[in-house]
Amino acid sequence: MKTIVYPGTFDPFTNGHMDIARRAAKLCDRLIVAVLTNYQKNPVFTLEERCEMVRDSLAGHSNIEVLPYDGLLVSFMQEQNAIAIVRGLRSESDFRFEAELAAANRLLYPDFESILLPCRPDLAFTSSSIVREVAEYDGDISGMVPQVIQARIRKRLGKQEGEKNERSGK
Ligand code: COA
Repeated sequence: MKTIVYPGTFDPFTNGHMDIARRAAKLCDRLIVAVLTNYQKNPVFTLEERCEMVRDSLAGHSNIEVLPYDGLLVSFMQEQNAIAIVRGLRSESDFRFEAELAAANRLLYPDFESILLPCRPDLAFTSSSIVREVAEYDGDISGMVPQVIQARIRKRLGKQEGEKNERSGK
């Protein structure tokens, strides 16, 4: 059984991530979307919230699992007996980052492999931080994130809701 891991912070999961997950799931028997605690990024959504949003977005895909992980990516891969990770490439700068990530991971685990899938051009400028910024200003995120998680993101980050929470002392 060939297992591939799609790792990320997913703060939050976007349509770009969704496209990569769906395409990668066709290349293997089992795709594990690994939602990683990222101490470097200090995510806005909790690990539980991020996992739940990925799970709900990918519900119905029988060979995709979503798991949280707090540790090194290479340890997770070995625990899951994964043959490779998959990542989406939006631009040259993504390529540079992925090349560095792969080189560092290969030092830790010589069998490390990465599969890099070019992103759909119409999603090449989507990112989690753009989604967060648009949602904070109550902008329209409908083209950026899966429909099933839109309301949750708006509720959590939207100004009106934030102001309501402030007023009620939450
Ligand atoms: N579509 C849309 N956006 C995409 C995308 C796609 N296909 N691919 C990447 N992105 C964006 C994300 O939205 C995010 O945007 P942001 O920076 O504005 O928030 C950014 O690119 C990257 O986020 P993400 O895809 O969630 O992954 P990441 O770069 O945060 O993940 C890890 C990095 C988790 C893989 C890496 O930190 C890791 O392996 N951590 C585990 C600890 C470890 O092993 N460390 C040693 C590594 S050598």
